[in-house]
Amino acid sequence: MTTPPVTANTDHELLASASRRARELTEPLLRDAVARLGPSLGAIGSYHFRWHSRDPAATGKAIRPTMAVLAAEAVGGEPSAALPAAAAVELVHNFSLIHDDLIDGDVLRRGQPAVWKEHGVPAAILLGDALQSEAFAILLGQGGAHAGAAVAARLAASMREVVVGQVEDIRFTERPWTGELAVDVAEYQAMAEAKTGALLGFSASAGALLAGADAATAECFDRLGRSLGLAFQCTDDVLGIWGDPAATGKPVLGDLREGKKTLPIIAALARKAPRASAWFRWSAPRRGPKPT
Ligand code: IPE
Ligand code: IPE
Ligand code: MG
Ligand code: MG
Repeated sequence: MTTPPVTANTDHELLASASRRARELTEPLLRDAVARLGPSLGAIGSYHFRWHSRDPAATGKAIRPTMAVLAAEAVGGEPSAALPAAAAVELVHNFSLIHDDLIDGDVLRRGQPAVWKEHGVPAAILLGDALQSEAFAILLGQGGAHAGAAVAARLAASMREVVVGQVEDIRFTERPWTGELAVDVAEYQAMAEAKTGALLGFSASAGALLAGADAATAECFDRLGRSLGLAFQCTDDVLGIWGDPAATGKPVLGDLREGKKTLPIIAALARKAPRASAWFRWSAPRRGPKPT
């Protein structure tokens, strides 16, 4: 498959061009996967993916497919080599978002009502489950016999980490804001690397592996993706307080409402920032005590 080269004058344009290209390459596989779910669940999947829109706040930024494609090219392969990993990771990412909104009680995703809000909780659970299955079907069916199985095993390990990270994220809401039992930066970092970094690590390492990289090179890409994922989650936490829903397509203050121990709060409390306690006006931790 021949693909147009990435052309750009700035880093921002370079990334925008690379992600546009990764989205164009991946979208047919995602559409096929959703179509395989049949008319009822498929229609709800199409609602979530918003393919008719060209706005990244509506369709998603496609950062994970972009990482997979760029990693394949970085090791000298064709972008098309990365496609099974790019499509699979975007499917499991969307599965995690659909369930995450349910877990977090967030009603807005990509500028429209979250799947659970629009179509109900059972549909959100089942669509998420189905997208995850389709991700593995793509890797095992199209990834090439040996490489596909190895990459599928890698995806399973990453998803295990995502789930453990999500559980920690929720368990942290039961912990106090201050004092000996408060969540510290190292604990936050481990949780964020698991819930977000693991999948970005998968994206980069799987893209490289499918393009023929050896195991040691793939591990370097895994570390790169994990670091990027950690930085990405820190940014997401900032946007969860000060972001513009019109730009992010997501609500603000949900993390505070849920008592989430996000990095801005942990950092503000650690530095005893004067206005930090005012933030807790919004906070109603499900099980944990309020700060004093
Ligand atoms: C949102 O991920 C969830 C996090 C890991 C912070 P993205 O910001 O990549 O979501 P989309 O796909 O662009 O909507
Ligand atoms: C990000 O969760 C990680 C996963 C979805 C697995 P968040 O809850 O921090 O992400 P947003 O802000 O809802 O997108
Ligand atoms: Mg969330
Ligand atoms: Mg969450």
